[in-house]
Amino acid sequence: GAAVTQDIGSIEDGQMIVIKYRGKPIYVVKRTEDMIAGLESVKPLLSDPDSLASLQPEYCANPTRSLEPTVLVVEGVCTHLGCAPNYRPDVGAADLGGNDWYGGFFCPCHGSKYDLAGRVFSGVPAPLNLPIPDYSMDGTILTVGE
Ligand code: FES
Repeated sequence: GAAVTQDIGSIEDGQMIVIKYRGKPIYVVKRTEDMIAGLESVKPLLSDPDSLASLQPEYCANPTRSLEPTVLVVEGVCTHLGCAPNYRPDVGAADLGGNDWYGGFFCPCHGSKYDLAGRVFSGVPAPLNLPIPDYSMDGTILTVGE
């Protein structure tokens, strides 16, 4: 297949890299313990907190939407009209639309907001969470696709 392999061992805590897969940007974030802890507290603010309507593999049907809690692998494609959201990891770092910012992804096209698991906040144009692609991990080696 068209699988893409990348050693992600050198991503710093809290940082993101972008991998191209089938013409799409795949965002890979090394989440910190604080980031992981925050995933629970934002749930009441989300449209689809348990990703029941959103795309993800079954093995990511868990509170962090990932194989490993510290590693988020998500498609960087806004579910509204397909723009690439910006990574805005810092809680309270910016005023993005007049609300508190919890850390996550901000789509500059029409203001959709996603948390640090790619889950969409309520009250924005995007209807669904950012999709999680098929992927696997072998130590620090990430393979996206099959
Ligand atoms: Fe992202 Fe419209 S494309 S908010």
